[in-house]
Amino acid sequence: MFSVVAAIDGSGGFSKGGRLPWRFPKELAWFAKLTKGHTVIMGRKTWESLPPAHRPLTGRTNIVLTSQVDYPLPPTVLRAPSLDDALTLTPASTTPFLIGGVRAIDEALRRKVVNHVFLTSIEGRFSTDLKSSCLLGLLHDTGRHPTTLQSEMMVNRNDGQAYRVSQLQFDL
Ligand SMILES: NC(=O)c1ccc[n+]([C@@H]2O[C@H](COP(=O)([O-])OP(=O)(O)OC[C@H]3O[C@@H](n4cnc5c(N)ncnc54)[C@H](OP(=O)(O)O)[C@@H]3O)[C@@H](O)[C@H]2O)c1
Repeated sequence: MFSVVAAIDGSGGFSKGGRLPWRFPKELAWFAKLTKGHTVIMGRKTWESLPPAHRPLTGRTNIVLTSQVDYPLPPTVLRAPSLDDALTLTPASTTPFLIGGVRAIDEALRRKVVNHVFLTSIEGRFSTDLKSSCLLGLLHDTGRHPTTLQSEMMVNRNDGQAYRVSQLQFDL
């Protein structure tokens, strides 16, 4: 089973032009602390969205989902042609964190192969061109009672504005 880690804004906004629409260094630090020592699994486009200097994500086993058998990856990065293969490749002592993008997360949620969702909920609406209706649905599902791990005002490096950013844990 996967643990999903992702961030959405108030309308389910997930990304813009292949990049994150916001930049909250404290949120990125929280993500790193949560996933360090474990396995991060991501779609090929999420891999491509990482700045070359920051990939593979250090201190973690990196697995990239792609159907392309000859997709070029560094030798330490594993390639998986499916979610099931990614789970098989995950070292036994580590948690498989599925970190994006929408296609991979939505497929995992639909197939019910997710037991935890660590969702960063950002109040406000950003300019986005990709949304996650599955994660927004989870956030607005009144039958769910997530644990709030932390919640604080953070300053977005992109526009200098303060936003309330909350880390929620859903156990499915
Ligand atoms: N807000 C957040 O928390 C967050 C987190 C991560 C990423 N992002 C953003 O999300 C965007 C990318 O998301 P996306 O939904 O467009 O793409 P994605 O899921 O990252 O990548 C899609 C590609 O991954 C491969 N793939 C995905 N699921 C697969 C599966 N089950 N089996 C085999 N291959 C699979 C396919 O690659 P092939 O075409 O090569 O077969 C597919 O075309 C980026 O802009 C990134 O910045 C946001």
